[in-house]
Amino acid sequence: MDAAGVDFPLVAAPAEAIPFPEASFDLVLSDYGATTFADPFRVTPEVARVLRPGGIFVFAHASPFRSIAETLARRGMTRRLVRDYFGLHRLRITDTIEFQLTYSQWFRVFEESGFVVERLVEPTAPKRPISSYLSMRDQEWARHWPIEAIWKLRRRVPSGSLGKTRDRSRRPK
Ligand SMILES: C[S@@+](CC[C@H](N)C(=O)[O-])C[C@H]1O[C@@H](n2cnc3c(N)ncnc32)[C@H](O)[C@@H]1O
Repeated sequence: MDAAGVDFPLVAAPAEAIPFPEASFDLVLSDYGATTFADPFRVTPEVARVLRPGGIFVFAHASPFRSIAETLARRGMTRRLVRDYFGLHRLRITDTIEFQLTYSQWFRVFEESGFVVERLVEPTAPKRPISSYLSMRDQEWARHWPIEAIWKLRRRVPSGSLGKTRDRSRRPK
């Protein structure tokens, strides 16, 4: 903040209960943050609540492909499916708990929270990737399957309120 010459409050808080009123933000970002480590059925509607209608929610996380092909002890990716796809939700991966859903469940929780999906990016690892945390084997894996997913969602503008900047009508379910 000093280097950029800006000053704004930094708030540490649970993403399941964000301490701001509804429609407070234009943009919400999460990079392997709460959208990985907190329940999407709680976080997604809470993000929708604090975004203004038309606001953007972008987040990056492990892809569902990765979640069903990653070995339990975080020994990396495998070409075998080691976990059920149906039933994905709360995953214990060694000492951490992570959350993942099937693609249809992600679409459903987005829709029910009031989001429209604008883009799903599935990055492919380049031929000579530089990664500070993935093994060469996992980087090779990521050239064949999507290791991560980046979603761009937009909070739906309620019909009849086009042009308005604030929606205080109701909290998304
Ligand atoms: C792997 S770090 C990523 C942090 C950052 N995006 C980065 O790239 O350095 C995961 C972050 O998620 C945050 N986090 C995990 N669960 C959360 C929750 N329920 N609410 C808010 N933040 C959470 C942690 O505090 C941590 O900062």
